[in-house]
Amino acid sequence: MPVVVAAARMVTARVRVLTVRHARRDTLPPFRGGAHTLLTLPDGTRRAYSIASDPARAEAWDIAVLREGHGSTILHELPVGARLHATHPQHGFGVADGAARHVMVAGGIGITPFLSMLPALADVTLHFCARSAAEAPLLAEARALAGDRLVTWFGARRLDLAALFADAAPGTHAYCCGPARMLAAFRDATAHWPDEAVHSETFLGLAPEAAAAGEAFTVRLARSGEVLAVPANRSLLAVLREAGIAPEASCEGGACGTCTVQVLAGTVLHRDLCLSAAKRSRVMMACVSRGAGELVLDL
Ligand code: FES
Repeated sequence: MPVVVAAARMVTARVRVLTVRHARRDTLPPFRGGAHTLLTLPDGTRRAYSIASDPARAEAWDIAVLREGHGSTILHELPVGARLHATHPQHGFGVADGAARHVMVAGGIGITPFLSMLPALADVTLHFCARSAAEAPLLAEARALAGDRLVTWFGARRLDLAALFADAAPGTHAYCCGPARMLAAFRDATAHWPDEAVHSETFLGLAPEAAAAGEAFTVRLARSGEVLAVPANRSLLAVLREAGIAPEASCEGGACGTCTVQVLAGTVLHRDLCLSAAKRSRVMMACVSRGAGELVLDL
């Protein structure tokens, strides 16, 4: 969809919120809380961003952009009135059906998907972690939505994830969105929880050099029988692209869940930040994960 930047404001020293509208219509497509969109930037790269506004507000979406690399710099410098392309909402993360209670943990810019989830929820606690209140993006919005259900953890006041998730109460679902270190700690803290009660999202994946590095391996394509070599300094995604059969990709750092490939056989060395343990038994993220020896892919 063509969208236009209708307004922009800095909400912290490093986070800019863009308000986008459809370029030709009065409303944008409906979405459920937690959804994200893939923006195509003026240089052709695509980046995933949570829609941080209330799903009931159909005329515009708020998208918060942390300045942390090439794509985000473009969005920080984009003038009001500029045009972009946005996909229809993608729903990989959101409020779990049938959950009675929700415990959410946001780290910094990771607050964004929760802002669109909160309006639909009654029994929820949102833990918001940041270096300081000044560096906590959209804090006022989180306060307005969550009220006394918001618990802030700034500076030296640290959230103990292991203690928070020590008890896996039936009906309670755990959610986390934040940087890789927080997600790893969240995964450890909820390792004893049922897989379907644990949800995480991040758009901050591995750096490009780290995403491409590892041991060489091969992939056999089940549909054509072709065998492709993935050298030590390239990602599976890059090799599949060269062969003209790559899946869609966005973050290229193992974070967004876009570049899924079905695995039929072989040992996968998973390095993503987005797949649950159950999904890891069937699929891999081509941008960061690798194989030990040969993998057979459903391609
Ligand atoms: S492109 Fe985002 S996980 Fe691979």
